[in-house]
Order: sequence, then C-alpha cells, then structure tokens
Amino acid sequence: MSEQQYDLIVIGAGPGGYVCAFRASQLGLRVALVEKRPTLGGTCLNVGCIPSKALLHSTEIFHAVQSHGSRHGIKVQNLEPDLENLMEAKDKTVKKLVGGIAQLCKSRKITVIQGTGTLAGNNRVRVASDGEEPREFTADHIVISTGSVSVELPFLRFDGEVVVGSDEAVAFDAVPNRLAVVGAGAIGLELGSVWSRLGSEVTIIEALDQVAPTFDPDIGKQAERIFKRQGMRLVLSAKVTGLKRSGKKRLLQYDAEGKEQSLEVDKVLVAVGRRPFLDGLGLDEAGVECDDKKRVQVDDQLRTSASGIWAIGDAVAGPMLAHKAEEEGVAVAERIAGKPAHVNYDVIPNVIYTTPEIASAGLTERDAKERKIAYKVGKFPLAANGRALAAGTAEGMVKVLAEQETDRLLGVQILAPSASEIIAAVVAHLEYGGSAEDLGRTVHAHPTISEALKEAALAVHGSALHAL
Ligand code: NAI
Repeated sequence: MSEQQYDLIVIGAGPGGYVCAFRASQLGLRVALVEKRPTLGGTCLNVGCIPSKALLHSTEIFHAVQSHGSRHGIKVQNLEPDLENLMEAKDKTVKKLVGGIAQLCKSRKITVIQGTGTLAGNNRVRVASDGEEPREFTADHIVISTGSVSVELPFLRFDGEVVVGSDEAVAFDAVPNRLAVVGAGAIGLELGSVWSRLGSEVTIIEALDQVAPTFDPDIGKQAERIFKRQGMRLVLSAKVTGLKRSGKKRLLQYDAEGKEQSLEVDKVLVAVGRRPFLDGLGLDEAGVECDDKKRVQVDDQLRTSASGIWAIGDAVAGPMLAHKAEEEGVAVAERIAGKPAHVNYDVIPNVIYTTPEIASAGLTERDAKERKIAYKVGKFPLAANGRALAAGTAEGMVKVLAEQETDRLLGVQILAPSASEIIAAVVAHLEYGGSAEDLGRTVHAHPTISEALKEAALAVHGSALHAL
C-alpha cells in the first residue's frame, strides 16, 4: 500500500468523523482523517457543545450566587462577571479536548490530513490547503462527516458583527447590552441563558407558540415561566422580518400579535436551525445524491448512492446531535470492517442545557398521537422532591409515557436539574423494553432528583408516593 492509500478516509473530524476513525482503527483498518480546521473535534468541540457547556456552567455559578446567594447563606458585595477570565477558561477546556483528540489519533496511528477534502471520483479524495498544491489520496471507503452550519435567514444575513450565529456567540468579547435571539430551540435557549446571566437584556423571539418546541407543550410552558423569572424576555408566535438602522440604533423588526414591532438591539443571534455543510464537496462528480432537504441521501446502512462512499451525522437525515453522529460513525466503521452494526434511532436522548435542564428520550405525547399509540401519562413535580427542595431548585417536572395496553415505557421528558444525567437511566429502560412499573419499582437513592423519575413512573398507575 502506498503512503497515499488507505482502507478508509473520513472527511470531517467532528464527533461523527473522529469516532468513526477511532473505531475503524481499533478494528485494524488503515485510516486517514481529513479536516479543514487547524484543530480536530469539529463544531462540537471547537465552537459548539463544549464551549457552550463551559460558559453555561460558569455563568450558572455566577447567577446562582447573584440571585440566590443569600438563600444559601452567602453574602457577596460587588459581584461582577470577569468575561476575559471566563472566556480564557472556556478556551483552555477546548484546547485540552481538541489536543486530546489529536493525541488519540496519533496513538491509534490515524493519519490526520489538514486541508479541505473534496470527492474526486474513483475512490479518491483531493485535499487542498492554503499555499500548497492539492494532494490526492485513495481509499476503499470514504465517509462524509462534514457536519453542519447555522441556517441563515435571507432577510437577516450574518455579518459576523451584529447578526451572528452560535460560532460567534460563544466568543463575544464584551457582554452585549441588548441581545436578541431568533429561535427558542437548543442554541437560542442555551446561549440566551449565558448572556442573560452575564447581564445582557435578552429577548428571544420564537416563531412557534412554545419554547423548546420538540418537547410537549406542558414542559415548554413550565420552562417558559422559569426562563421569564430568570430575566429573559420571550416573545412567542412571532416572526422576525428584518433589521433596520435608524441613526446609530439598530432595530430588529418582527410581527407579533398581528402588528409589526421593533426592538432596539446591539447584537442578534440567529439560532433557527442548522443545515448540512456539503458546499464544494464534489458530490455530483462522485455520483453522491442528496434528498429533497439537501442532505446526503443514505440507505439504512448509511451507504450513499456512490459505491464505497458513506455518510453520517449532520450531513444526513435525523437529529443534528453529536451523540447520534458518534453512533453512526461507530456503525459505519463496523460495517466497513465486515461486522454487523445497529443504531437505535428510536432512543436518542435530547438535552437542552438550561437551568433547569430539559431532556427527553423516546416518544413525546405528540409522537405517540402521530403514531396512533394509546398511552398513559404519569407526572411528578419537582416541588415534591426533597433533594430539589433542599437545594432550592424545586422547579420543573418529570413526565412519563407508557403504552396503554402493555405498560411498555414509551418516552420520558424531564425538566429538572441534572436532567441530562438522569435521562441515561431512561435510555437504558427504553433499550431493554422496560415498563413504567419496572421503572417505578427500581430502587433510587434518596434523596436524589432522580427519585422524581421513579415517582412519575409510579404516577402512570396513580401510585406516586409523595404527590397526589
Ligand atoms: P432548533 O431546530 O433546535 O431550534 C430552532 C428554533 O427556531 C425552533 O424553535 C424554530 O421554531 C425557530 N425558528 C425557525 N425559524 C424562525 C424564525 N424565522 N423566527 C423565529 N423563530 C424561528 O435549532 P438550533 O437551536 O439553531 O440548533 C441547531 C441544531 O443544533 C439543532 O438540531 C439542535 O438540536 C442542535 N443543538 C443541540 C444542542 C444540544 O444538544 N444541547 C445544543 C445546540 C444545538
């Protein structure tokens, strides 16, 4: 085999791509990983999941001391955020993680090729990097894991300064006085929370009639009340129409309650979804077809229409989540190595890392209705959970759905502190086909927030112990 020839070339080193490369290398394949960024880890590690979680964690501490310090017996004077240090700590975390991925690639003998990869047909990948002649590499298999970029609104183009996407909003160098956020999904709520905690006047404008619209309306409504109390302004059922300049002022235009309104802003974060990033990848030349939503078309094994080319993660259909991409990366590596593999798309947890966190796995009520599945619901309020009360965080609830006839667990939604961790137990129950009764009879440590999950499962049969 020549230096330029591999069993597998992965294009894009985000969580989907690097995990695919790791698994393929574990299985004995000769792997190259092509990445255009100077560091590995993709959006998630560099400008997405990890930096946003670092900012969320630090600002949560700041906000808790500022808003509830006295409740916890903490007296503080002249409390103020230190943005420079906060960003430095976030950047250090990112640096450590992306460096760790590079180290793991080295240890696993994965060749990292820096530059922009293009499909060149006949099992070839061309890699261009600044100031160098394009190089060509060949492989029996190629995996497209090029991720996604923020969707741009045609009437509100990104300018990197005032109108920005999440990449910029995790790295503002000053706290904006007035920040408008378009979209109350994961990014809008998370980054809206970060800047609101640091002192921005945050207004989130959402087209639908609830925040976190992938969750059921009762969860969304309760979350909305909590976020409003935290100081964010939420404008629902509203449509942003553009940005006007009036002298030095910038006015965001939107339609709400039947009339055109405007809001003075310093920055606008557009968080209305992401689209697969496939620009300039040479899909046509390579014979790779896309679906009607401009995602790479794949079969149920994640094979594209071109022989030997696979695609995973945000580049293909399904939730745009790092852990979904990782599972697909593992599955493709195993299939290439001739092993059977499976991704359970019915059980992919979904988390919004606000305070409290919002997490779900399995079906919502909306999903169950759409699938015409008869179900029972059990709910339990955090206000009746001892641990939450002791911590002063007794806002939220757990909602459990079980099949009417069989009691099989269908899905769970959690609005509670540590929901992102508690949801793992739900995923396990769903994977093993457990019932609401199984979950309700499982021993949970006391006192823990996760007891609210057990109680909500008991509530499916009207037998919750600490609430009526
Ligand atoms: P999203 O799809 O989660 O939410 C976008 C929101 O914008 C929706 O509520 C939608 O109704 C609203 N919207 C769309 N057009 C609008 C308009 N013109 N005016 C007002 N509202 C409008 O998208 P988001 O938050 O940008 O995130 C992108 C992707 O990244 C998602 O797939 C998300 O799941 C993923 N992500 C996941 C995170 C997590 O797991 N915690 C964190 C950040 C992103």
